[in-house]
Amino acid sequence: MSGNCVHVHREATLITLGCDYNPEQWPAEVWAEDVALMRAAGIGLVAINIFGWSDLETHPGEYDFKRLDRIVELLHENGIRINLGTATASPPPWLVTRHPEILPMAADGTRRYPGGRQAFCPSSPLFRRHALDLVEQVAQRYGAHPAVALWHVSNELGCHNALCYCDVSAHAFRSWLINRYRTLDRLNQAWGTAFWSQRYGDWNEILPPRQALSLRNPTQMLDFHRFSSDEVLAHYEAEHEVIRKHSTIPVTTNFMVTAHIRDLDYWRWAPRMDVIANDHYLDHRLGDPAAELSFAADLTRGLAGGKPWILMEQSTGAVNWQPHNLAKRPGEMLRNTLTHVARGADTICFFQWRASAQGSEKFHSALLPHAGTDSEQWREVLELSGTLRKLADVAGAAVEADTAVLFGWESWWAAEQEGRPSTAVSYLDQVHAAYRGLRELGVTADVVSPDGDLDRYRFVIVPGLYLVTDQQAARITKYVQKGGTVLVTFFSGIADQDDRIRLGGYPGAFREVLGVSAEEFFPLKPGTTIALDNGGTASLWSERLRTTTAKTHAAYADGPLPGVPAITSNQFGAGHAWYVATALDPIGLRDVLRAAAHQAGVEPTGPENDGEVEVIRRHKNDKSYVFAINHGARSIELAAQGTDLISGEQVSGRLKVTPGGVRVIEEKGRRP
Ligand code: GAL
Repeated sequence: MSGNCVHVHREATLITLGCDYNPEQWPAEVWAEDVALMRAAGIGLVAINIFGWSDLETHPGEYDFKRLDRIVELLHENGIRINLGTATASPPPWLVTRHPEILPMAADGTRRYPGGRQAFCPSSPLFRRHALDLVEQVAQRYGAHPAVALWHVSNELGCHNALCYCDVSAHAFRSWLINRYRTLDRLNQAWGTAFWSQRYGDWNEILPPRQALSLRNPTQMLDFHRFSSDEVLAHYEAEHEVIRKHSTIPVTTNFMVTAHIRDLDYWRWAPRMDVIANDHYLDHRLGDPAAELSFAADLTRGLAGGKPWILMEQSTGAVNWQPHNLAKRPGEMLRNTLTHVARGADTICFFQWRASAQGSEKFHSALLPHAGTDSEQWREVLELSGTLRKLADVAGAAVEADTAVLFGWESWWAAEQEGRPSTAVSYLDQVHAAYRGLRELGVTADVVSPDGDLDRYRFVIVPGLYLVTDQQAARITKYVQKGGTVLVTFFSGIADQDDRIRLGGYPGAFREVLGVSAEEFFPLKPGTTIALDNGGTASLWSERLRTTTAKTHAAYADGPLPGVPAITSNQFGAGHAWYVATALDPIGLRDVLRAAAHQAGVEPTGPENDGEVEVIRRHKNDKSYVFAINHGARSIELAAQGTDLISGEQVSGRLKVTPGGVRVIEEKGRRP
């Protein structure tokens, strides 16, 4: 069950430190040193056998567990618990050589070769059978082993191969469609196949949306995304089922809640996990990587239903897969880690234990760097370990948030299809912009599914939620009617679940609650800035909008629509609904968020700032834990009362956080 408070460490109240360990890359002489150093670093949970298939099953049906047995015993003898991989993340060369038909196919109909990882079609029954045979062997052998604390199914399922366009996938796609629509008539309706002569008369005429000469059918593409996410999840469930025959230990897989992966609808996946685990790497291609880390952590907590979750992978320093792989500055790894802990992670793991000497990831950082233990990186690891030990009491505490940001993968897929008004508008950028504004206001937010429960929030942000079902629209409307405050940003509520435009004026689903109606989009060329009559600026988007019952807070001062409203608010029932019809500059967006949050009675957990400071509170029983993280170059002072769990200092009244520093204050007697 999702969100179960599963403790993967023997001591229930501990922030566990862990890592991926790939001993197959090293001679046996190195293992003893590895384990001794793991103990020195306080490593409590080690993920092994993630990419072990070609070592375990050297030839079809011939298994060799000698090495894995030794590793398992070595870790066990040293009191280190195991996060056991099923080893199915990458098929071995013998399998793809014998059965090249399991290789995934790109949208242009070309196969992807082996030589990297994940070279399999998620719908391939042949791949599935071989993978499950292996899982059976692994689960049978280690399912009751006392050192095994957690099962790690495959690895980052769907990272490279979520969308496969081969004939086997086509067949599976048709079955999925039959299950969804039952009749071809319904499918033809939903997909709008009257357009461009696309009407289907037989299920077998339907293909995955392979590359075409022109724009492809958007609903077909949307459904293909839904299908593909379900299909990869089905693989997880098949492995889960085999494991369950032999073991009662929690099972999970590592999600990729991050800026560069969007193919899996984790709202559908989360309820199938015994505990939620996420991999997160700072992405320096983004404008504000630290804010994205906070967003990803809050979204992961949302997937975990507010319960503690596992950070399954992060890096101590640089990764090797971005164009410019920036190392972490002194203290940055600690700040990153404690941001995850502040936002609900109780287990912190790294990829990987020892930096590889060979292979594609030899330039990826690790807990134990190429330089060995006489290194700043290693000293920082020891410091981090000591710090996490001092935070033991925080484990199990819940994060307090009175604000929600709605986020959905379906909207992401639908909003970014071919043939949209502007390719410069990115869904995630809009979500990040709103989230970042809140973070800079010192507001802690939950990230909630568009189907989620809104009643416990004072304020709900709906950034760029292009696709909304009737039920979702009704829930949001009712929330406002009953007294809630929402802030909706442009290109929201435009389409229904079939990506059919909601007619009668934009933003169809939210026209009434917002008290506005727009008849035409006026996207702006990238790089163009227009002025608002409140002194602010905007870019990317505008629309020919009129108010019906809303009042206007700002209108365009120039650009294609001078005098037309850009920011509005509407009293609706007992609540308020704000609309931001353009991409405001960051200060302008923060101003509107501040006004709406104030109207909603939101209580910030930290001071307003430019993103250099975050203050988050977790609570448990009659205690709360205030995390104050200073990413900036200036000292900050906050009001606080209690004990600093890291330094032991008593804080009475004023808390100073030095540049780059982190403080965690335990407050007594405070309830949310
Ligand atoms: C993840 C993956 C790891 C490793 C890591 C490098 O995508 O699960 O195996 O490749 O990235 O950053």
